[in-house]
Amino acid sequence: MRATVDRAGLEPQGRLPKVQIRRVRKGDLSKVRDVMEQTFGDFLERQLGTRPRQAFGGAQYVHHRWLMEPWGCFVAEEDNSKIVGAALAVTWGTVGVLGPVAVLTNYHNQTIGQQLIRAAQEFFDENKATLHGCVTYPTSPKHLYLYHKFGYRPKNLGAIMSRAIDRGPARAATAPKPAKTPPTMRRFSTLEEAKKKATLARIHRITNAICRGMDLSKEIEIVDGLALGDTLLLERGRDLIGFAICHTPGVSEAPTGALYIKFLAIDPPQRKVENLEQFVAAIEGLGQELGVQRVILPVYSRYWVAYDTLLQCGYQVDFTMIRMQRGKQEDYENPADLVLDDWR
Ligand SMILES: CC(C)(COP(=O)(O)OP(=O)(O)OC[C@H]1O[C@@H](n2cnc3c(N)ncnc32)[C@H](O)[C@@H]1OP(=O)(O)O)[C@@H](O)C(=O)NCCC(=O)NCCS
Repeated sequence: MRATVDRAGLEPQGRLPKVQIRRVRKGDLSKVRDVMEQTFGDFLERQLGTRPRQAFGGAQYVHHRWLMEPWGCFVAEEDNSKIVGAALAVTWGTVGVLGPVAVLTNYHNQTIGQQLIRAAQEFFDENKATLHGCVTYPTSPKHLYLYHKFGYRPKNLGAIMSRAIDRGPARAATAPKPAKTPPTMRRFSTLEEAKKKATLARIHRITNAICRGMDLSKEIEIVDGLALGDTLLLERGRDLIGFAICHTPGVSEAPTGALYIKFLAIDPPQRKVENLEQFVAAIEGLGQELGVQRVILPVYSRYWVAYDTLLQCGYQVDFTMIRMQRGKQEDYENPADLVLDDWR
């Protein structure tokens, strides 16, 4: 009797199973989450030699992303019954961010990843996203090859940084120059509905000044609507100096025990290092209030002043990934802009 190759993804007769790409439905959500956890768990185990207990340290990506951008979420389904891969994508105005993408390990190298990425590309095109980006593992030839096939170019490193929060009094930021009113921090969730709309428009003006057409409103609204955390507004008098989309642990993108900033920007005309330092100190104060152990801040090394400031503030690099970009405004970043953003 001929032995059959025991390889999932190939039937005993050697027939490649039929895999279809379709949009995520509500009933898929837990399964998609399992596929992501399982796949990244396998990948990290191969990289690190030990399997992490949770691939994302308790951070969640699937449910709220689907609620925020259902048309950007795709699964690969085998024979109409088994989900074997998934890709999530979101548009921030003209910027399309792809990821995470995952294909169950036993199904690798059968073009499923490419079919998922193609679906996300079409979604970006339908929504007129002119700059597409993702982050990936710079040491993996496969990942670099795969994204290159779609025209993504490797750019700079993005660093996920963190700092343990002291139990004592909050770290003092550089004192503002004596004549200046110190900035205050407000929470988006405390605003009346009409004020929220106006604030979103003010925030849009900031992101638009950083990258033409970039709009983070969806991220702010989902954090507010599902109480995933809050958006912090740094103000001086009537001026909005900056904002930070903040996730708190539970069902958000914050890992267990950590306050996580998904996106922070200081309005370009206000880009003084002391504004970023004061914002970071205020965020740490919030972390203390919430009783978390760490603050996690992502920074793209093209934003060199922001990167340097975080190191000065005592942040350490937990890990790095490389940013890949394609399309118009591919090199839009101004190294002096004070932006912390995460494209995972
Ligand atoms: C990355 C991932 C989604 C790719 O999915 P996949 O279904 O295996 O990808 P595909 O089969 O569509 O494409 C892989 C391509 O890489 C090529 N490849 C495989 N190993 C390679 C290597 N060592 N060097 C160069 N190219 C390689 C394959 O030949 C194929 O290209 P081809 O079709 O032109 O021959 C999958 O490996 C995965 O889930 N990894 C773990 C999670 C992860 O890293 N996600 C992405 C984070 S950015």
